[in-house]
Amino acid sequence: MSVTADSRVAARSVFPDWRFAPNIGGHPDVYEIENQAVDRAGHVLGAMRALAPWANASLVDLGCGTGFWLPRYAGAARVIGIEPDPALRAAAAARVVSGAPGTHVLAGSAEHMPLPDGSVDVVHARFAYFFPPGTEVGLAEVLRVLRPGGRLVVVDNDYRWGEFAELLAVAATQPPSRTAAEVDAWWLERGATRHEVRSHLQFASRPEMSAVLGIEFPAEVASAWLRRHPSALRLSYGFVLFVVQA
Ligand SMILES: C[S@@+](CC[C@H](N)C(=O)[O-])C[C@H]1O[C@@H](n2cnc3c(N)ncnc32)[C@H](O)[C@@H]1O
Repeated sequence: MSVTADSRVAARSVFPDWRFAPNIGGHPDVYEIENQAVDRAGHVLGAMRALAPWANASLVDLGCGTGFWLPRYAGAARVIGIEPDPALRAAAAARVVSGAPGTHVLAGSAEHMPLPDGSVDVVHARFAYFFPPGTEVGLAEVLRVLRPGGRLVVVDNDYRWGEFAELLAVAATQPPSRTAAEVDAWWLERGATRHEVRSHLQFASRPEMSAVLGIEFPAEVASAWLRRHPSALRLSYGFVLFVVQA
C-alpha cells in the first residue's frame, strides 16, 4: 500500500501526539543501519530482556518504526508493534509478514493504544514518545494496557557518557547535564528505576558511519567528528533504561 500525504494528515488528526521522527521517517534505510550497529553488541536488547523478561509474554513495541526489533523477541507468546506514522507502519507490517510469524503491527500511538485494559505484560518504547517532561498522558495509557505487575521499559540516551553524548552536547540547545537531570527527575517522581547500559555503535564501513551520523546530527557536527576520528568504525554510546512497574 502506498502512503500518501493525505494518509499522514489523517494520521495526525487521529493521533495528535504523533511527532514525525526525521531520522527514521526521513531516512528509514539509514536508520536500519543505525539499528544494526546497535544490535551487533546486543547489550541494549540483553538489558531490556533482563529488566522485563518476555518468554511466553505478551509484548508491545510502542513506536516500533519500521519494525527492526519485532523479529528479535524470540520466545514471546505475542508481539505487537504500534506505530502512528503510516509509512513506517507499512514497512513494519511488510517486515513481519516475511520474518516474524505471530507478530502484528497496529495503528496507534502512546496516547492511543488500540488494546484492552490489562492485556499485555511488557511495553517497550525505544526512543519513541517518552522524551519527558510532558509525557504523562502516554504513561497513563501504557499503565492502562499493562496487567498488574507488567513493565514498561523506555530506552533513552545517556546524556552524560560516551562519544554519542558528546555529539549530542555539541548539537544541544541546553547543557546535557540539565537535560539528564530533568529526565531523571521526571521518571523518579513516577516510581521508575534507572539503568545505565554502556555500549557502542559498530559500523561495517565509513560510508555507513557517515550516513548515520548525518541523520542524527547537524552536518558540520558530524563531519567535524569524522575528521577528528579518520579511521573509526565504532562510537561509544551510553543508554539509560527507565522501568516502570504497573
Ligand atoms: C527514533 S524512532 C524509533 C523507532 C523504533 N523504536 C526503533 O528503535 O527502531 C521514533 C519512533 O516513534 C514514533 N512516534 C512518534 N510519535 C509517537 C507517539 N506519540 N507515540 C508512539 N510512537 C511515536 C515515530 O513515528 C518513530 O517511529
